[in-house]
Amino acid sequence: DAIELGQYRHYMQKEIFEQPAALSATLEMLEGARSVQPGLFGANAEAIFADVNRVLIIACGTSYHAGLVARYWLEAIAGVPCVVEIASEYRYRESVANPHTLVVTISQSGETADTLAALQHAKNLGMAHSLAICNAPESSLVRETALRFITRAGPEIGVASTKAFTTQLAALYLLTLALATRLGRLDAVREANALQALRHLPAAVARVLELEPEIKAWAERFSDKQHALFLGRGRHYPIALEGALKLKEISYIHAEGYPAGELKHGPLALVDRNMPVVAVAPNDTLLEKLKSNLQEVRARGGELYVFADADSEISESEGVHILRLPEHYGSLSPLLHVVPLQLLSYHVALVRGTDVDKPRNLAKSVTVE
Ligand code: G6P
Repeated sequence: DAIELGQYRHYMQKEIFEQPAALSATLEMLEGARSVQPGLFGANAEAIFADVNRVLIIACGTSYHAGLVARYWLEAIAGVPCVVEIASEYRYRESVANPHTLVVTISQSGETADTLAALQHAKNLGMAHSLAICNAPESSLVRETALRFITRAGPEIGVASTKAFTTQLAALYLLTLALATRLGRLDAVREANALQALRHLPAAVARVLELEPEIKAWAERFSDKQHALFLGRGRHYPIALEGALKLKEISYIHAEGYPAGELKHGPLALVDRNMPVVAVAPNDTLLEKLKSNLQEVRARGGELYVFADADSEISESEGVHILRLPEHYGSLSPLLHVVPLQLLSYHVALVRGTDVDKPRNLAKSVTVE
């Protein structure tokens, strides 16, 4: 292990820091392309994409959160209706099938029993157009789908998924661009700009990783807490869910992710000075709304930890701590904003002395129901 870990203490930390390289490898096939070719998803992709008018995403755990982000992209950029289902729910639910659905399964391992069964269930319902976004090229899942996109995150050892998640998001963004172009929703200039932003992602993530020392200092303040709340809005709501999942998985602190607009409908009752509230606050159209949600937290004595962008108009004050990500990254911003949340949970777990790479009761790959 010592050799493989190099300068890192745990696989999770190493894998968090491998994200720029994992993204570069996953995006390598783009080379100098100015357009996303359907062929990236398999030989039959062009014909299949021409026959679909909706997307159904199926996954578990962190991969499910990647699907939730993709829904915002697919509807806003490609104009394709999209639903996202937890595999274990979908496989047993009576649902309405539509043969013009692209069934997208997302999985790091490609061996998650519920995801495999949910895919089979969708096929049994007559939905034959399937795509796997998967990090394991030889996996069962990849063998079962008509189309595939292999993320190139490399082996992920830490039970809590990190680099697999960001590469899944990159793949889902490519899928969004491919569908948007086919549907005439994206002109050549906007597509070239989107590809440029994707290519710059590894460098952008590397700059976010430089925030580690500040995040480490924040982590000290979380380590004696019993509960934490993560808030986000829009495409960053799933990032709040992912931040909460990471914290509970490896530090055993109870954490909940909530869409900030729902605060008044329940979680506000829990807020006091013993419950830190983490807010994902990029500089997007929802920032003003988010700020008023944050004031509600402050008014109840809640301590706020805000991940903003360099240009987010939000300032430090009593009980409001702010860390700024170096740049605002538009629709790809979820890929940057998840990184400090991964680092936060990692450092909280370190302070608490938990088994970071093998948290109690959890498995890397859940191959039984
Ligand atoms: C387990 C892992 C998670 C992972 C989930 C789905 O719960 O601990 O990190 O997100 O399975 O796994 P998959 O391989 O299908 O992405």
